[in-house]
Amino acid sequence: MILVTGATGGLGHETIECLLTRMPATEVAALVRDASKATDLAQRGVEVRQADYFDYPALVQALRGVEKVLLVSAVAFTDRLSQHRNVIDAAKEAGVKHLFYTSIQRSSDFVMPEVTESDLATEAYLKASGLVYTILHNGYYFEGLSYLIGSEVPESEIRVPAGEGKIAFVKRTELAAATAALLTSAGHDNREYTLTGSEAYSFHDVAQELSQLAGRPITYHSSEPASYIAQKVAHGFPDFVATFLAQWAAAAQHGLLAGTHETVERQLGRKTTSLRQYLKAAYFPQA
Ligand SMILES: NC(=O)c1ccc[n+]([C@@H]2O[C@H](COP(=O)([O-])OP(=O)(O)OC[C@H]3O[C@@H](n4cnc5c(N)ncnc54)[C@H](OP(=O)(O)O)[C@@H]3O)[C@@H](O)[C@H]2O)c1
Repeated sequence: MILVTGATGGLGHETIECLLTRMPATEVAALVRDASKATDLAQRGVEVRQADYFDYPALVQALRGVEKVLLVSAVAFTDRLSQHRNVIDAAKEAGVKHLFYTSIQRSSDFVMPEVTESDLATEAYLKASGLVYTILHNGYYFEGLSYLIGSEVPESEIRVPAGEGKIAFVKRTELAAATAALLTSAGHDNREYTLTGSEAYSFHDVAQELSQLAGRPITYHSSEPASYIAQKVAHGFPDFVATFLAQWAAAAQHGLLAGTHETVERQLGRKTTSLRQYLKAAYFPQA
């Protein structure tokens, strides 16, 4: 049996959708903290098990009889490392053989305080645990682009403090499909994969594609982090979220998210969604 945590969230749920095309529902389990949000999965025969990452005894109970676990990493601004350690320890105690962990891409040494620090510590903890592990270094979601540049087509410019940095954006459903393929195939013991889109794009590329789709000039200006944060706060983001977004932009500027790797396209059997395709669907759905 394969158990996916974070099953009421985006990546976890989409990975289960993909698993269900590959194996019987009776072989799939979903870990959730609120079972009322997973009735769709239960109705389709997925075994829904309840535990919070902070609740160690419940985790041990929930992980019994499971062969492989996909640990979907905990959200930022929480004690991610404690939660991940709990799941790893519980997996070991429950007799799980193999644990997959969703880390974030690291194509450079840039460290994001809310993300990379706990990823590095989790990976070290997992490697020392004695469990068979697979670490998935997930690229930046295309779906996260709107947080950086806004969800409306900009009038004439986009401002992000990302310099000339590039991001190998990947659609979350494509990450999920590749993850399900890895979970259901052999040969990934104690391996690490970076799951990215086929191409990396700068914010100049984003502006150029938006410009062509909108039929008017849209340009990119690399702004200062402080003015970017102030602009985001003025648009209603809490200060800590605005600062976090500026950190993602800094990560892009420093190359953390720029490397392209073939694993996702190999698992999909095709190139991943391009920037043009994503922007057209997300920003020009009527076109
Ligand atoms: N690569 C990227 O661009 C990117 C972007 C954002 C996040 N991430 C990372 O990737 C992870 C998955 O992304 P996503 O889009 O699927 O995020 P998401 O939609 O926010 O889903 C997070 C999942 O984790 C569950 N969860 C949170 N805290 C938990 C806890 N204490 N115990 C048990 N379950 C808990 C949530 O449960 P509830 O439904 O009950 O809240 C939810 O199911 C995120 O958690 C984050 O670490 C990556």
